[in-house]
Amino acid sequence: MLFTDLSIAALLASTAAAVPFAGHDHSHRHLHRKQSNGNTFNINVVNSCSSSRSVGLFQITSAFQMLSMSTPVTLQPGENTTVAAPYQLAGMRLSGTADQGTAAQWLPQALFEFGYSAWGSVEGTAYDLSLMTGTTDGMSVVPANSNCESKSCSSPLDCPVSQAWTNPNQDAIGSPADTTCYYGLTDFDVVFCPSSSSSY
Ligand SMILES: *[C@@H]1O[C@H](CO)[C@@H](O)[C@H](O)[C@H]1NC(C)=O
Repeated sequence: MLFTDLSIAALLASTAAAVPFAGHDHSHRHLHRKQSNGNTFNINVVNSCSSSRSVGLFQITSAFQMLSMSTPVTLQPGENTTVAAPYQLAGMRLSGTADQGTAAQWLPQALFEFGYSAWGSVEGTAYDLSLMTGTTDGMSVVPANSNCESKSCSSPLDCPVSQAWTNPNQDAIGSPADTTCYYGLTDFDVVFCPSSSSSY
């Protein structure tokens, strides 16, 4: 998604986040592999690329600032890590270039983009994959809650519009890459360079 769109989405999401949160009991929807507290969910990240990736979280604020939100973790090929992600923030992204600092995060690259979303009595995480022109890695995301959509592109050059943002013009056709998991706190599996036959 374009960062301008993302910023608008972030503003909308923060408005939506004004929906009263107290009293929501969604503990029955928790599908944790590791224990999270109520303010974070887990992103289990696998590096299936043939070289190392530096994994980290960033946030684009409504003032277009790029903030580092986690300590970068270097994954050698085949390695994985679990990143604790803030549940109630908008404009979030997980990148594989975290060691390159905040300025490099504006460049096209494989991203798992996500943010808090509330709609009426439901809440959860809005998310997408972004593989804009210039991206070299493929990426996949699988939510722990099977009611929610998985997305996968083994190559950014051969990626259906339903699976990832590859072009900002996809907003003209309803942003089919975007989806929301309205089941409260849900963990996600993210793979850099997934194989074409499966997510792993
Ligand atoms: C993550 O790494 C551990 C070893 O550190 C391994 O046992 C496990 O299967 C890996 N998980 C995935 C999803 O690759």
